[in-house]
Amino acid sequence: MLFVGIAFWAEKATAQDFSQPERGPKIFKQCVSCHNLRKGQPHRVGPNLHGLFDRNIAALDDFSYSKALTELNDTKWTRDKLNKFVARPHKSIPQTDMKFVGLLNPHDRIDLLAWLEEATRDPALSPEIDTPAYITVGGDASRGKQLFRPCKACHTYSEKKGHKIGPNLFGIIGRKAGSAKGYSYSPTLAKRDVYWNAETLEVFFIEYKEFAQGTHTAFQSLKSPQDRADMIAWLKSLAPRRNE
Ligand code: HEC
Ligand code: HEC
Repeated sequence: MLFVGIAFWAEKATAQDFSQPERGPKIFKQCVSCHNLRKGQPHRVGPNLHGLFDRNIAALDDFSYSKALTELNDTKWTRDKLNKFVARPHKSIPQTDMKFVGLLNPHDRIDLLAWLEEATRDPALSPEIDTPAYITVGGDASRGKQLFRPCKACHTYSEKKGHKIGPNLFGIIGRKAGSAKGYSYSPTLAKRDVYWNAETLEVFFIEYKEFAQGTHTAFQSLKSPQDRADMIAWLKSLAPRRNE
């Protein structure tokens, strides 16, 4: 019993002591296309998350939730529930309308939730998060193709082509990071546990130093939000899409 108690305590302490809430806004970029979190802001595809930790599940009258979420309305959101939901929305609450594959990396979830608890409670701590250009203005795939020129040194993108220094990017959208057959990735990228979609590519382009082993210096050329939106549009055109 004692050991169980200590292990439990140690786990709790780890989660608290080593969480890095300052990483929250970066991780929240994967949610921002669908969620606002400041008081009074409109709903997007998903409900405004202001006051999340003080309210029941599916509590907002002016948002139309799925039946699955509405049925859970008699309980509050806790960190534990949110951790499970955000990790795998469709496993945690089958039939939810939240079309998001999940935040598989446990560290990302600890950091995000530590920050979200404060940011959804105190408007002063919930900064205005810029909506990425791929949502506000959209991207131009033909311009993205031009921006892709320097990437061709290391990447092919047609179905039948083999890998170069980097993996073939055909069908990259919907694919799990680090999963192209026959390519041997760095453990860093494979361990990221993300699926590639507009949200995660946007984060990759900005946070590339933390993502893959060896810095992706080619992303320095994707500094402007419009360039990133165009590149995402081009990568999206490299069908097939599955899990977007
Ligand atoms: C593609 C759009 C989309 C993305 C991306 C998305 N969500 Fe959602 N989210 C939704 C929708 C739609 C709902 C309502 C689900 C339902 O009714 O079943 C929802 C519901 C929620 C709820 C329940 C809110 C309530 O009022 O009960 C939480 C919490 C949540 N999302 C958090 C997140 C977090 C954190 C992320 C990022 C890691 C995220 N979502 C990413 C669309 C999205
Ligand atoms: C100098 C070579 C090089 C250049 C230039 C380069 N990449 Fe990469 N790229 C790689 C390598 C190597 C990997 C695998 C990294 C790993 O295993 O950690 C990779 C991985 C990726 C992945 C993830 C693939 C997967 O299957 O998960 C994407 C997306 C990507 N690169 C996009 C780009 C884009 C867009 C550009 C141009 C702006 C670019 N890369 C330029 C070498 C390069």
